Amino acid sequence: MYNDNPTLDHLVKTIDPMRQGEVLDFPGHQEKGNGKLFYIESFGCQMNFSDSEIVAAVLHGAGYRSTRNMEEADLILVNTCSIREKAEDTVRKRLYIYNKVKSSKPGTLIGVLGCMAERMKKNLLEEEKLVDLVVGPDAYRDMPKLLESAEDGHRAINVQLSREETYADISPVRLDSNGVAAFISIMRGCDNMCSFCVVPFTRGRERSRDPFSIVAEARDLFDTGYREITLLGQNVDSYHWKNPETGEEVNFAQLLRMCADVNPDLRVRFSTSHPKDMTDEVLYAMAEKENICNYIHLPIQSGSNRILELMRRGYTREWYMGRIHAIRRIIPECAISSDIIAGFCTETEADHQETLDIIRQAQYSMSYMFYYSERPNTYAQRNLKDDVSLEIKKRRLSEIIALQNSISRQLNQSDIGKTYKVLIEGDSKKSAEDFKGRNSQNKMIIFPKNPGLKPGDYVYVEVLDATSATLKGRITQNPQS
Ligand code: 5AD
Ligand code: SF4
Repeated sequence: MYNDNPTLDHLVKTIDPMRQGEVLDFPGHQEKGNGKLFYIESFGCQMNFSDSEIVAAVLHGAGYRSTRNMEEADLILVNTCSIREKAEDTVRKRLYIYNKVKSSKPGTLIGVLGCMAERMKKNLLEEEKLVDLVVGPDAYRDMPKLLESAEDGHRAINVQLSREETYADISPVRLDSNGVAAFISIMRGCDNMCSFCVVPFTRGRERSRDPFSIVAEARDLFDTGYREITLLGQNVDSYHWKNPETGEEVNFAQLLRMCADVNPDLRVRFSTSHPKDMTDEVLYAMAEKENICNYIHLPIQSGSNRILELMRRGYTREWYMGRIHAIRRIIPECAISSDIIAGFCTETEADHQETLDIIRQAQYSMSYMFYYSERPNTYAQRNLKDDVSLEIKKRRLSEIIALQNSISRQLNQSDIGKTYKVLIEGDSKKSAEDFKGRNSQNKMIIFPKNPGLKPGDYVYVEVLDATSATLKGRITQNPQS
């Protein structure tokens, strides 16, 4: 009914109706449980959190139940991140804590999942004996078998990467969910090979998931009360699926429309976009469909053309600003955020100034900001010198953060007096008297509750006050009453 594109209408209707409602609960499995409990912690990007939900589904299938209490778990898992050295250090510290728990409950198994698995398999399993199980991001289906062999005291390891695995047929078990917003993984891996990035080595080659399974998952979520989905991939703009039988193709803009057409009350977000691949077709889909949120995460990484080339990002600052102007032209209300790295190999003070300059020009609503951390096997590690001192990296990073904070504050203050449609996500952290929710631009807004409203409802909120991180407001009109 809401589909105005005949080609896509056809695609949406071919979704297997048997898949409806199969997400979330495992009543059958509940009865067949093996009495064992698993506890899982996730680090790193949203993709990792989304993967943990696939792991939970695989474990449910094998009879395990989840627990939030590490002490009572038979299996302690950590889904790891390798993107910066600090992330790996954090995981190592956690492993010592898990082993302490294990020492008071022998027989507990400890497993490392995700990006560190490939890199650490030798150390963790053989030398340090900190873990019983090592499972790479493409091997989660193998976990029941690996667990059996770990229980028998054998090495349990599978870090094989795949060119096909998308877990398309696995319905994730939503962990720590607010019941309103969920992530859907639409592709895996990355073919970009940015010179600083370890992801292509830990997560393997890029592959896109069958769009019908994506839309079916979105529909299931909507039917169980969810009102927002975020489509996840390392580079969503290069999403490309081809039907092996008919040759029919679906690109990211088409996938966005298909998801938006599930229901006008289902918000659609996505992350991450790559400046070199983001097409106007995507922007037009966003402008046309009210429920595709006006927010784009478009990492610049550096404002210097020389550094961008060393980073192998595939664009210049001029190209990047061209994309920003296209967004402003086609979706004037769109908020844009970024990732920025300070102190990449050979970065000079002049390069750094160019980064500050592009942050000013782009007017990001927020950014994720890091200093460069050399990663093993990357092009940069093999070919470039990590020659900016830690002190300078940190100083440049703090300048970047200070500038971004002042821009975020200014932009938020210019929202005062405006009214936004907000999806209620739950109680605010600070007060049970207030709700929190986000507007289309992904800004968090806190506002006093109105009786009768609940998470998952949409409300109109007028902004009354702002900091660099949050908006405060009051409900002006309830569109559902
Ligand atoms: N050092 C610092 N930051 C990095 N990122 C990726 N690799 C590194 C690294 N080696 C940042 C990039 C990327 C984000 C997810 O993490 O900004 O967009
Ligand atoms: Fe890493 Fe670049 Fe791929 Fe992002 S696009 S995951 S930064 S290689």
